[in-house]
Amino acid sequence: AWLRYARIQGAKGYHNKLPSAIVTLNATEGYPVYTAGQELSQGINGIFGKKLELDTADARRGHGQRPPSRDTTATVGTVAAYVDSNPSAAARLPKLIDDGFYLSVSRGNVLILGQNERGALYGAFHYLSLLAQGNCSDFTVTSNPQAPIRWVNQWDNMQDGGTHGSVERGYGGDSIFFWDGKIRDDLTRVGQYGRLLASIGINAVVVNNVNADIKTLTPENMDGLARIANTLRPYGVQIGVSLNFAAPQTLGGLSTFDPLDKTVVDWWQHIADELYKRIPDMAGYLVKANSEGQPGPMTYNRTLADGANMFAHTLKPHGGIILFRAFVYDHRTLNQTLDWKADRANAATHYFDGLDDKFDDNVVVQIKYGPIDFQVREPVSPLFSHLKRTGATIELQITQEYLGQQAHLVYLAPMWKEILDFDFRVDGKRSTTADILSGKRFPRKLGGYAGVVNVGTNTTWLGSHLAMSNLYAYGKLAWDSSATSEGLLKEWIKLTFSDDKKVIDVITKMSMASWPAYENYSGNLGIQTLTDILLGHYGPNPASQDGNPWGQWTRADADSIGMDRTVWNGTGFAGQYPPEIAAMYEKVETTPDNLLLWFHHVPYTQRLKSGKTVIQHFYDAHYEGSATAQTFPQLWRTLKGRIDDERYEHVLYRLVYQAGHSLVWRDSVNMFYFNKSGIADTKRRVGNH
Ligand code: GCU
Repeated sequence: AWLRYARIQGAKGYHNKLPSAIVTLNATEGYPVYTAGQELSQGINGIFGKKLELDTADARRGHGQRPPSRDTTATVGTVAAYVDSNPSAAARLPKLIDDGFYLSVSRGNVLILGQNERGALYGAFHYLSLLAQGNCSDFTVTSNPQAPIRWVNQWDNMQDGGTHGSVERGYGGDSIFFWDGKIRDDLTRVGQYGRLLASIGINAVVVNNVNADIKTLTPENMDGLARIANTLRPYGVQIGVSLNFAAPQTLGGLSTFDPLDKTVVDWWQHIADELYKRIPDMAGYLVKANSEGQPGPMTYNRTLADGANMFAHTLKPHGGIILFRAFVYDHRTLNQTLDWKADRANAATHYFDGLDDKFDDNVVVQIKYGPIDFQVREPVSPLFSHLKRTGATIELQITQEYLGQQAHLVYLAPMWKEILDFDFRVDGKRSTTADILSGKRFPRKLGGYAGVVNVGTNTTWLGSHLAMSNLYAYGKLAWDSSATSEGLLKEWIKLTFSDDKKVIDVITKMSMASWPAYENYSGNLGIQTLTDILLGHYGPNPASQDGNPWGQWTRADADSIGMDRTVWNGTGFAGQYPPEIAAMYEKVETTPDNLLLWFHHVPYTQRLKSGKTVIQHFYDAHYEGSATAQTFPQLWRTLKGRIDDERYEHVLYRLVYQAGHSLVWRDSVNMFYFNKSGIADTKRRVGNH
């Protein structure tokens, strides 16, 4: 991926700008400062062909003794370790928070200090990333993360129908963690994943599916989880575990899983104690409850806060936190035909309303970016603006479930940026999603980011080389959401492929065009990704959206289309936003075109702000989007010889496929609405002429 440390052009010319030795301060094998030393040595050797002396001896020599003097040195460690031997430096060092780092490069002398060990490793990766991009200049940087929670989630199953550990919505092979209902013996790949994650600032991974298997908690598998934690610890990546709410009954044999029942609480306390006995630095839990048929506190008429707090109590003595998902809805009660006001989008805010001051301080509510489910475009979930006392994480999806499943190139950072920059105007004040998550808008200690990644055993990790830009950008945006999507992309291209300008230009062009193109051919104007929602969420099937209880409705008929989510006449969803935003979405005239059909039910002949009708916009956009996808293989072919053949062919295969599949999307969706509406395409492309 981006950690290839490939030799750069003119490598030798840089040698005098590089350190000649590496000194790690108080490094212990198996912990991040030690890893940082190894990484610096490996990286500088790879990028420049310069072998550095690695001195870890200072830990044994004890504090206060300086390493032998050398020409130039890269020193890496924690602030505390450094100040210990250089007390006078304390006043000169900038203020860091947990995981933050200070990095100074001056004529080959490099100082990399982390607030904690993990921060030191992040600093080392930062330095190496600049070197790998050919930047050896002198500089000083202080970098603190905007939020403490920067996690990834893996939806890995302990086994599928057979022996495999499959990954739900994973498109890069089997689980790297599980096999045959157990933790794999060989966890080499897990270590490599930890290295990738650490290099982009991710500090925890939840290893098992949110639809959690109770087998995760058997003593044997807890031992296995500890092996995973040991494998990731050198990279400062903690582990988290997804739980099944009914486990006290289904695994523990109790008669109930009521969160207020003492036997249930004791059972969970025992589980927490057992896990922490094996994994003292476990990050915590992730819980999906009362959603899509999963058990939860509401099974016993308890609130979601009762459920979350039960886990929080058991984690508190161990310093763990619980991420409790807001993805709560009951598909069994949604009836489209009988109830014009029924709306899955309302569920999260509805269920969490009134609970803001009820959660323990180690509970964080994890909210999907949109109110439905990772669609190509959704308004930002209004729940972010409701939780003023409770910490929140945003759940983003790196795995492209509704977005082409890694068979289509869709660079997602531009979408995430729109979401993070969205201003809710809470109490009439600037209140962006990013500021809410970081605790800047409402003072809260915990909050941040959770990305569903779903890597697998495939050598490309995600199933596609180009899809890895999404993982890279996710980590970087979780650290600092002010980074630009194009800037991150270019960095990633240089590290992954080459600093050849042509390569950078072509991949940038394709990637930046890819989300708008996908939106155009898969579902625009806020109608959602018109995919097959019953079978795998792949490929076009607009008919499958309606007439079932899954609530991803379009309400398309012969004359009109869209979900009326207004307060005056619809499901009332628009009213879940703070007043200024609610007023904007309440009216057709003030709703942005790209969300028109999300909020309003209108005739196909409704005019957009562009002057086009809805139906003509559909026809045109599906043509435009697929036309853009047609250009991708041609663009890519111009890179032949500039990228190694293996990756060149792998990517080309997918781009050719995407170009073809975009035509299937275009024609299926356009024909569907032509058949429904009977309205001709003014450009005479759709239907029989
Ligand atoms: C989506 C996805 C499921 C997943 C669920 C969740 O509906 O298709 O596979 O379990 O989200 O996030 O819980």
